[in-house]
Amino acid sequence: MTTLSRHYHITTFGCQMNKADSERMAGILEDMGFEWSEDPNQADLILYNTCSIRDNAEQKVYSYLGRQAKRKHEQPDLTLIVAGCVAQQEGEALLRRVPELDLVMGPQHANRLKDLLQQVFDGNQVVATEPVHIMEDITKPRRDSHVSAWVNVIYGCNERCTYCVVPNVRGVEQSRTPQAIRTQMEELGRLGFKEVTLLGQNIDAYGRDLPGVTPEGRHLNTLTDLLYYVHDVPGIERIRFATSHPRYFTERLIKACAELPKVCEHFHIPFQSGDNEVLKRMSRGYTHEKYRRIIDTIRQYMPDASISADAIVGFPGETEEQFEKTLKLVEDIGFDQLNTAAYSPRPGTPAATWDEQLSEETKSDRLQRLNYLVGTKAAERSQRYMGRMEEVLVEDQNPKDKTQVMGRTRGNRLTFFAGDIKELKGKLVKVRITEVRAFSLTGEPVEVRKAVHSLI
Ligand code: SAH
Ligand code: SF4
Ligand code: F3S
Repeated sequence: MTTLSRHYHITTFGCQMNKADSERMAGILEDMGFEWSEDPNQADLILYNTCSIRDNAEQKVYSYLGRQAKRKHEQPDLTLIVAGCVAQQEGEALLRRVPELDLVMGPQHANRLKDLLQQVFDGNQVVATEPVHIMEDITKPRRDSHVSAWVNVIYGCNERCTYCVVPNVRGVEQSRTPQAIRTQMEELGRLGFKEVTLLGQNIDAYGRDLPGVTPEGRHLNTLTDLLYYVHDVPGIERIRFATSHPRYFTERLIKACAELPKVCEHFHIPFQSGDNEVLKRMSRGYTHEKYRRIIDTIRQYMPDASISADAIVGFPGETEEQFEKTLKLVEDIGFDQLNTAAYSPRPGTPAATWDEQLSEETKSDRLQRLNYLVGTKAAERSQRYMGRMEEVLVEDQNPKDKTQVMGRTRGNRLTFFAGDIKELKGKLVKVRITEVRAFSLTGEPVEVRKAVHSLI
């Protein structure tokens, strides 16, 4: 097979899990001799890594696909792939809807891309959506960033939140071994990466399905154990993790975060609703009181920790009063960042079949009210940074002002300051904050940590 000078393009929708999968699939394609093309219209192979968390995410895919399917009529050797969560959800039905497709592959098959493509190049139309044990990927991911990397620690989700497609599309929980995770982090450290975000849809479930002891006889079957196990990886300066589930979040984990210097003081713990009745109908397994206790405990150990979350408005049957409890929780906690969404009925989920669906109007009205409050509270939270010295890990140039670089504080606030990206990329810089906005900061560089020559 001659793949030389063949180009590929990947567009990724959805969450960090999909981004991490795309990076691995790009690595596999490059290993096969494909070269990256930013423009899908110049590519010989197009892969859409899709998301089906809400209907609008799914519809976007169909409009992108339609355009490329047309192109395939003029260029029959174009290879068209749908991967990710829509692929898993729709399976064969996608082929009926878009017969031009060559390959439909669920997220559990990402690491098998090379094998699957082989079948396509042999002339088959392939659907790979059956549940499989996820094998370790042996090629090198093509990473978007060279500073900060995602590392999957657990795939799948065993929860059954009544609104959510993820368990249907991502399959059952499967933890990677601590050794595989540590080896990957050591490699990232050697390559010059500075930050790692450990990923799982329900990361607190990490380790439940493992034997519980490492080959060297170390007891290890929780996320907390894993943090202690990987904490000293050379070169990695910061460790983050997401997403946490309030049902399983432990004080032991909070203590570890307070104790381990590389673990950043940022917690992403979705609460979804501030009302206990709604939480119950969502099958979330906690009350708003429990959620508040978790945040209180985090703040006892780390008073300055930043807290982010996800919330849904307009869940079936949500009354105005119940929605106001969500507003109240947001008011009381003061999130640094909150991802908000209007409830979207999803195929194969229980809540989608319930009678008490709310009108689009009510949902969008609630969403606007919540977003307004989120912006106000985040702006208040940002005030505490004013005049302070923050450590920023420089990731990139500011796309809107080339004289500036941008990076994140330990608390995950996007921060801009004057500087040359060639000199500063991947450096930890002490920055004095001079301007604050709801979701970002601006400052002046004071000192570059570990810089060899250039002290600003
Ligand atoms: N595993 C994480 C997040 C999963 S999906 C968790 O348990 O919190 C990311 C976010 O999408 C969810 O937190 C939820 O806020 C939102 N979401 C999921 N299903 C949704 C739906 N049907 N409609 C609207 N938002 C949804
Ligand atoms: Fe979906 Fe719930 Fe699993 Fe999160 S924990 S991925 S919301 S089922
Ligand atoms: Fe979307 Fe799948 Fe992630 S549905 S949010 S890409 S797990």
